[in-house]
Amino acid sequence: MDAPTSSSSDRPPAYGIIESVDGVTNLVLRAMAGTPNERLREVMAAFVRHLHAFATEVRLTQDEYDFAVDFLNRIGKTTTDTHNEGILFADAVGFSTLVVLMNNGGKGPTETQAALLGPFWRDHSPLTENGGSIVRSATPGAALFVDCRIVDPDGQPIPGVEVDVWHASPVGLYENQDPNQAEMNLRGRFHTDKDGRFWFRSIKPAGYPVPTHGPTGELLRAQHRHPYRPAHLHFLGFKLGYRTMITQVFVDDDEYLQSDAVFGVTKDLIGNYRRHDAGETPPAPDVQAPWYTLDYTFEMQRGEAKRPIPPIK
Ligand SMILES: [Fe+2]
Repeated sequence: MDAPTSSSSDRPPAYGIIESVDGVTNLVLRAMAGTPNERLREVMAAFVRHLHAFATEVRLTQDEYDFAVDFLNRIGKTTTDTHNEGILFADAVGFSTLVVLMNNGGKGPTETQAALLGPFWRDHSPLTENGGSIVRSATPGAALFVDCRIVDPDGQPIPGVEVDVWHASPVGLYENQDPNQAEMNLRGRFHTDKDGRFWFRSIKPAGYPVPTHGPTGELLRAQHRHPYRPAHLHFLGFKLGYRTMITQVFVDDDEYLQSDAVFGVTKDLIGNYRRHDAGETPPAPDVQAPWYTLDYTFEMQRGEAKRPIPPIK
């Protein structure tokens, strides 16, 4: 009696064996060709083609390959609940901004108000009344009064948008990086009123260096690049029926405006942070000159509302 044999249809599909360096890419592509998910098949095929072409173009050495794998592993190991090295690396090579611009502003050809989320957004920041302050512990620096509107593409106000705001202190640190700041200092969550407005008090932010203790910092040093970002406020607007708005508004007189380490600045996103000096009536009795005001109008597009995954807890 013959031993049972498996039919050819039970075997995994054969895609061949490696014969030379020239055949590797196509062999891998054949191995992945049966991926049922169409988008995954398309993305991974392009990824393999470009990754192999990249290694071929630079004639990647074994040492460089080993270094690159270790570099990737260290990106993972440097990431914690309060630090996201993966996003930081993507930001530092312009990848985050490329993806943002491709997916906003008519898919790239026009200026957009979208900007990278960055590694410092935290969910559940304190709900704050319009006009309230997001300064939650003593924070030295010039007072800043922000007054924003959110409109739709026809210029009509959008009420009821939930807006997260977050920014670094004048020392250049987010509260989660700084034991001297209270929990959720310089973070707040607002709702736009019937006129699409939200407004609050804070402290004028300073530019800051991105964290450089991990592999991203190592790369910046090797490339003789400084780690600074121009001062900015972050905004995240969320309302069902509208594309989630993720953006930053930069301080117009910042020395790093033309050399943002993570490539977030576009012309549209440079805000007019107006300086006010003694002689003008301050907006609150405890305000010392100089103080600053920022008025800014955001536009939100109709579409699917999706909250991003928080990069840190
Ligand atoms: Fe930031």
